[in-house]
Amino acid sequence: MARTPIVAGNWKMNLGRTPARELLTALKGSLAGIEGVDMAVCPPAPWIGDAADILAGTKIGVGVQNVYWEAQGAFTGEQSAAQLAGVVDYVIIGHSERRHVFGETDEATNKKLKVVLELGMQPMLAVGELREEREGGRTNDVLRRQLLAAFDDISSLPEGFIVAYEPVWAIGTGLTATPEIAQMTCADIRAIVAERYDEDTAANCRIQYGGSANAENAASLMGQPDIDGLLVGGAALQAESFTKICQAAAATR
Ligand code: PGA
Repeated sequence: MARTPIVAGNWKMNLGRTPARELLTALKGSLAGIEGVDMAVCPPAPWIGDAADILAGTKIGVGVQNVYWEAQGAFTGEQSAAQLAGVVDYVIIGHSERRHVFGETDEATNKKLKVVLELGMQPMLAVGELREEREGGRTNDVLRRQLLAAFDDISSLPEGFIVAYEPVWAIGTGLTATPEIAQMTCADIRAIVAERYDEDTAANCRIQYGGSANAENAASLMGQPDIDGLLVGGAALQAESFTKICQAAAATR
């Protein structure tokens, strides 16, 4: 069965309010004609409301970059999944910057994943190995540990569940994984999902590649059989490059 590609822009902590609104307005126009690919932007949290307003009625989804599992309470600085439900469509969980800059644990990704699934938003579960883990031949072990921990006590995954494979050494470095390396690793991720759940779940799972994806390499990455989308950082900050990436994703299906 064909998997609908999913291209998402992770703006990280970039863009003030005016440029963010300008980018959203530009994307509303430039992505309008693209068919057959799910598209989303994940702006910084303060601009989520602007994104939801500007993109209302379009096919462009809105996502957040982080979430907290408790519904409400004395958790200064956090945003709950319960607050975000109905406002956003997608939630990035376990991004490497959350894991490595903010010390987010595998257990935290599991709590976040559970609540986001319960509330009917679409998680983008990010996993990926450090450079030394790849060089030490431990990539598969690391991905297996991250995935199985995130899936703990989750009995099934919804159709089209999104995993974002983001090798940490490729994020923001300009060092994109070759399409062959990205393909092999995404196939390994699919095999781990099959082992944990079943072949159908794995076949329906959408696996994004992320890490210096851009307008130039999008087509070759998207041409790989196990790569079903891209999670784009730097190249998502300009309408022109993000639009080209979405077009490339649409053209490969
Ligand atoms: P990058 O970031 O495209 O700037 O490498 C990707 C990501 O971290 O999601």
